[in-house]
Amino acid sequence: MTIEVLRIGQRVVRDDRVTTHVALVSRAFGASKIYMNEINPEIKETLAKVNKTWGSSFEIEYIQSWRALLKSKKIEGVKIVHLTMYGQNINSVQSKIAKEKKILIVVGAEKVPRDVYENSDYNVAVGNQPHSEISALAIVLDRIQNGKQFESKFENARLTIIPTEKGKQVVPDNT
Ligand SMILES: C[S@@+](CC[C@H](N)C(=O)[O-])C[C@H]1O[C@@H](n2cnc3c(N)ncnc32)[C@H](O)[C@@H]1O
Repeated sequence: MTIEVLRIGQRVVRDDRVTTHVALVSRAFGASKIYMNEINPEIKETLAKVNKTWGSSFEIEYIQSWRALLKSKKIEGVKIVHLTMYGQNINSVQSKIAKEKKILIVVGAEKVPRDVYENSDYNVAVGNQPHSEISALAIVLDRIQNGKQFESKFENARLTIIPTEKGKQVVPDNT
């Protein structure tokens, strides 16, 4: 399954820390790319450093218009999965989404415009209470991949972690 993420409604500076975490979760939980229409260059630099040290070719792409992106993804046959507290319960749609070949997960920052709800293939709620795009994204990524994302190897890493019961073990990645 190819998974990409679209962050909309980001307010530069005010939302930078949250947006950085949305990008970090996307990368660490198996998405290949995140699209944003406002981007602080520091977020790109942070992710580039993480890729260089810990591997993967996770990408951040700046886009002019998220509406145009949604339109072109739909034409390509990508299924749009919008995360919203008003949507269908994740428990009832996760197995259907897990069978899709390509998905684009949309997360908001501020109020999300109505057309996103109307044009999405799935409006998915992680509980019907307001919380955070970081937690909603992490839970959905985990549910649709069944934890498998934590078994995959991140290519071209400089360092790798040897999981240990106590302490920290970090070694050069020679594979
Ligand atoms: C701070 S919330 C904004 C909520 C806002 N009141 C709205 O109308 O969408 C930012 C984003 O977090 C995600 N989110 C928050 N709570 C959620 C939930 N219970 N289920 C799914 N996504 C959620 C949504 O993607 C939302 O756009």
